[in-house]
Amino acid sequence: MQIKRLKIINFRNYVKNVVDFDSNINIFLGHNAQGKTNLLEAIYYLSGGKSNRTFKDQELIRWDQTFFNISADLNTINGNYNLMIMNSYEGRKKIKINGLEQKKIPEDFKTVIFSPDDLTLIKGSPSGRRDFLDREISQISSVYSKNLSDYYKILRQRNKVLKLDMNWNKKEENLSLWDEQLIHKGSLLLKKRLEMVHQISILSRLIYRRLTNNRENIKLDYSSSLDLQDISNIEEIKFFFSQQLKKLRNEELRSRFTLIGPHRDDLNIFIDQKSAKNYASQGQQRTCILALKLSILEIVKGNCGEYPVLLLDDVFSELDDSRKSFLVQEIKKGIQTFITGTMNEQRLKNVNIPVKLFRINQGDIKV
Ligand SMILES: Nc1ncnc2c1ncn2[C@@H]1O[C@H](COP(=O)(O)OP(=O)(O)O)[C@@H](O)[C@H]1O
Ligand SMILES: [Mg+2]
Repeated sequence: MQIKRLKIINFRNYVKNVVDFDSNINIFLGHNAQGKTNLLEAIYYLSGGKSNRTFKDQELIRWDQTFFNISADLNTINGNYNLMIMNSYEGRKKIKINGLEQKKIPEDFKTVIFSPDDLTLIKGSPSGRRDFLDREISQISSVYSKNLSDYYKILRQRNKVLKLDMNWNKKEENLSLWDEQLIHKGSLLLKKRLEMVHQISILSRLIYRRLTNNRENIKLDYSSSLDLQDISNIEEIKFFFSQQLKKLRNEELRSRFTLIGPHRDDLNIFIDQKSAKNYASQGQQRTCILALKLSILEIVKGNCGEYPVLLLDDVFSELDDSRKSFLVQEIKKGIQTFITGTMNEQRLKNVNIPVKLFRINQGDIKV
């Protein structure tokens, strides 16, 4: 898939810009705070209608303005079309395809982004790793995305009941209703997450080995708050979930919080059998994230028939030459890529393939 032309109006620090992109590698150079990350955010926004940096669309509107508008000529497996998304200060979001209003964002344009924030994925809290899994699975399954939001709604209701001071029988009656829904939606999420982790684990192992000249191995493990004992069958997951909720009833009533479920799980990453969270060096973390992101590219391709667009924010210049050239080999498979950096042009010569070069200066993009 590809974005051929982008027009942004009142988006972050941009007033109005129209840019034509290369079908392969696009590089954006500029000093700090000029709009490089904002541009990638606009492209990311087209894939799913959400920012990668904020939940509040209002923040995307240029200060003192009342709306933003992103319009792009896309090429996907479904052909060429123009996608326009705008949102106003009051939250009146509009989506149009070839000028015709739509209820939903199309699902055939996808992106994978790698930014310096991703490095916290390894050393940061479990919630970041859960978000990573949730985001990438949602990207290939709208059913998962719906189940995820249902699950969190159910969880909030269940926690509310756990916090209420009410008669024991009534509380039990109430809880058992929520239990059933929590188990149903939670098990669906767990099954998908287990499948995804299995897929990423296999792919990233191969990629990581190649990135380290076969010197190091990584392995991913889904670490569940439920004792799943290697099961992945949905009926069995439901059974274990319900058994363990029953066992924890008193503890949950005391702590007034749902103690097990996908919202308490984690993803363990091991490098040569050692926990990456505890031991990985900066370089290993970077390589690890790169391997994870490249695996996601393959998984998305497997699911929708084409590679997503790759967004590399400020990370390319941090890679050493051998990782850089590995990445370029990957990109050459026909992955449209957007790279930002403050690096000078000299360093780019090492890349050794044709690129389209842009300069960004105070919200103005020039070839
Ligand atoms: N809603 C907004 N309206 C106007 N300017 C904004 C808005 N949001 C962020 N900015 C400005 O955008 C600039 C940062 O752009 P960014 O793309 O993150 O920079 P960089 O080129 O370093 O990646 C900052 O100067 C910030 O003040
Ligand atoms: Mg930036």
